[in-house]
Amino acid sequence: MSRAYNFSAGPAVLPLEVLQDAQKDLVDYKGCGMSVMEMSHRGKDYDAIHQEAIATFKELCGLGDDWAVCFIQGGASMQFAMIPMNFLPKGGAADYAKQGTWSGKALKEGQKVAALRGATVNVACDCAKDIPTRMPKADEWKWAAGSAYYHLCSNETIAGAEIKDFPKVGGPLICDMSSDILSCERDYNQFDMFYAGAQKNLGPSGMAVVAIRKELAAKGDDKIPTMLQYRTYVDENSLFNTPPTWGIYIFGETMKWVKKMGKENLFKLNAEKAKKIYDVIDGSDFWTGTALPEFRSNMNVTWRIHGNNEELEKKFIDEAKKLGMSSLKGHRSVGGIRASIYNAFPMEGVDALVSFMKDFEKANG
Ligand SMILES: Cc1ncc(COP(=O)(O)O)c(C=O)c1O
Repeated sequence: MSRAYNFSAGPAVLPLEVLQDAQKDLVDYKGCGMSVMEMSHRGKDYDAIHQEAIATFKELCGLGDDWAVCFIQGGASMQFAMIPMNFLPKGGAADYAKQGTWSGKALKEGQKVAALRGATVNVACDCAKDIPTRMPKADEWKWAAGSAYYHLCSNETIAGAEIKDFPKVGGPLICDMSSDILSCERDYNQFDMFYAGAQKNLGPSGMAVVAIRKELAAKGDDKIPTMLQYRTYVDENSLFNTPPTWGIYIFGETMKWVKKMGKENLFKLNAEKAKKIYDVIDGSDFWTGTALPEFRSNMNVTWRIHGNNEELEKKFIDEAKKLGMSSLKGHRSVGGIRASIYNAFPMEGVDALVSFMKDFEKANG
């Protein structure tokens, strides 16, 4: 077997143990005589998988009975649309942080729904185009009072910038955590809703995992189509229609893996992995980090070769690929180099990268 060190931003590396267990159970899941993909979503075997996945995730995030966890297809991008459709009332207002590409996309969907409903959208900050990339500083947020909800993104995957201290807002706080959920110590109860496209720290692509306070879900617009209402997923435990059963199964296995690793241990490893790469970047003028140091992401490390030397960056990415390190190219919208090192990314892969960076600098610096 030969597995690449996969630095992809998503879909991304999954725990090898989870893949191997899934492979073992693929054609006959624990003596059921069929794979998880083939079993009824109303049967008791699948029901156990579904319930356990939710319970493990809630335990890891410290969520009580006032929270629901929903599986919604359409990825995180569907959430960008569902949030305003549910919670932005006619003539009302919502607040959005514009910190980078992804929160910018969420804002755009909010503005679309606002235009349809004669509502307003307040942009609480705009540092989306800043270089070095960053998050707003504590005194930069300009949240309006009385908005229906406040939306932000905890980790801008493309910029490689992450919020370290969440701001206090005056109403429901909703957070896109697609690229850093369960990667560091975080009080999840400071939010009213948080969500993540599954394909980074949670499982395979094809759904978003949405944690929402039941009280908030119940306040959503009940005139929009049933499948777009959060209450449908909460009331029916994400079984109103056929859910993405395979994705939920792998999500549940991944959550069990997180629990087995131990959150504290995993969070510490994540910080150590990122530090190893940032130390090389900071150790020489050959490299330039893309994000302001105080906002550097531990999940998506972004950097350039001095002077934004695209030719040399291409050479770096191509040579790394030959050595078994794949997907180090920065997002197509910004270029440069990006190493996505999610929970399941192994320390040996980081060591291989760091060693290659040093060799590359010696040969090309
Ligand atoms: C922070 C963030 N939000 C949203 C998305 C969009 O996710 P999806 O492709 O699941 O719609 C991404 C995808 O990379 C992301 O990184």
